[in-house]
Amino acid sequence: MTAIVEVDAVCRHFQRGGERIVALDAVSFRIDQPSVTAIAGPSGSGKSTLLAMLARFDQPDSGTVSVGGERLDRIAEAQLDQYRNRRLGFVFQQFNLVPSLTAQENVELALAMHKLPAAERRRRAAAALEQVEMGHRLHHAPAELSGGQQQRVAIARALVNQPSLVIADEPTGNLDGKTAQQLLELIARLQHEMATTFVIATHDQRVMDMAQRVIHLADGRLAA
Ligand SMILES: Nc1ncnc2c1ncn2[C@@H]1O[C@H](COP(=O)(O)OP(=O)(O)O)[C@@H](O)[C@H]1O
Ligand SMILES: [Mg+2]
Repeated sequence: MTAIVEVDAVCRHFQRGGERIVALDAVSFRIDQPSVTAIAGPSGSGKSTLLAMLARFDQPDSGTVSVGGERLDRIAEAQLDQYRNRRLGFVFQQFNLVPSLTAQENVELALAMHKLPAAERRRRAAAALEQVEMGHRLHHAPAELSGGQQQRVAIARALVNQPSLVIADEPTGNLDGKTAQQLLELIARLQHEMATTFVIATHDQRVMDMAQRVIHLADGRLAA
């Protein structure tokens, strides 16, 4: 069976001044079923470094990463944008919406790679925003939305291309408890409806509680 994600003996170190920092130390795991998988661990444990590998923003010193059966180190530079845009969705702690664009325009940006007529792009963006219960805020700018609403827009943007994998880095980190809980319920529903896989880096216990699977990292190593 082709794994959705396969991480095999991945090592990554950074040099800071004279210091050698081991960010990931022989990390291996597979994700076989569409799911919400949490990558849990304290600050500095290697979570963001691991997510960067899945998007091929960064590459291991040794070891391999495959997504959907494809070895990421074998993707040519010219194909990387296509890999990220069509196969992945991204959600960040800071939402990362373009401030000068409306909610709908922010979601449309993720469709820019497809040669779609403008009306179809708008329609798909509106449908994605409906899915996250933001259909009543299509024309609002990010500054006119609450944090929880901005994160919903970011989720619509991440999902509009129907990616097989959504990578989220501390998505609840800037939300209050109740808003975080609502966002997690939304993610659980969307994961189920779209049969996509979310990999969420977090130190939020609520995320670990809702995830089907929790992979613990400590000092760059898998921990029990
Ligand atoms: N570009 C970098 N240069 C130097 N050190 C880095 C760099 N990126 C991450 N690190 C270090 O690698 C370790 C893991 O970082 P990170 O993956 O960001 O952890 P987390 O996301 O779990 O907080 C930390 O010690 C961090 O300081
Ligand atoms: Mg991090």
